[in-house]
Amino acid sequence: MDFLEVVQGRRSIRRFKPNPLPRKDIEEIIRIATLAPSASNRQMWRFIAISNKDVLLRMRAVVEQAIEDMTRIPELARERPKILGFKSFSVFMADAPMVIAVCGEPYRSSTDELRLLHGLPVEPGRAWARPDIQSISAAVQNLTLAAYYKGYGTVWMTSPLIAASELEKILRIREPWRLVTLVPIGIPDERPGMRSRKPVEEVLQFIE
Ligand SMILES: Cc1cc2nc3c(=O)[nH]c(=O)nc-3n(C[C@H](O)[C@H](O)[C@H](O)COP(=O)(O)O)c2cc1C
Repeated sequence: MDFLEVVQGRRSIRRFKPNPLPRKDIEEIIRIATLAPSASNRQMWRFIAISNKDVLLRMRAVVEQAIEDMTRIPELARERPKILGFKSFSVFMADAPMVIAVCGEPYRSSTDELRLLHGLPVEPGRAWARPDIQSISAAVQNLTLAAYYKGYGTVWMTSPLIAASELEKILRIREPWRLVTLVPIGIPDERPGMRSRKPVEEVLQFIE
């Protein structure tokens, strides 16, 4: 496959065959993930490859619980069907043969660090830049493309993070590390079509 075939062929996959994944494939996929650029080359990412069924079921249970708890918030009572609808997009990871938990270490730009060191406030607008999250996301994208190249399906998942602190406890992720995303991975058991994309004219602006 050439580069375009990889980028155009990848889809989010939510149904997987039960076949276990060879360790060497996961090691190679993570090696490719870590070729991503990162702010100050800090490489503030870690990956936990979970295939233990008990652990995956415990992860599903805490996510289900967090969603159920949300339906009991009085202000959200009328949103119950919508909230329960999110569930199907949040818990299927437990049926995958493996889930890769991507963790990140918070990182601030050197200029923000200097400001904080001297008791100056960090400009609120800059917070959106989050170089740590951008770096980790670049690695996650490499991961999904490398997995596809090697015949595996993946889906990038943030909705289970409704139960982030419980998931961090199960996975023994300790401060300053935080769980950033979950990526189920396995041989695809579905062939979804391409989801539409906004036309280039809508998302591209030239300043000449
Ligand atoms: C940051 C991020 C979070 C996502 N979270 C979820 C999720 O929690 N559950 C899910 O089923 N899909 C999730 N997705 C997958 C998107 O729904 C999917 O990428 C999008 O619909 C486009 O489809 P495609 O990946 O097949 O091109 C997420 C994608 C990204 C980039």
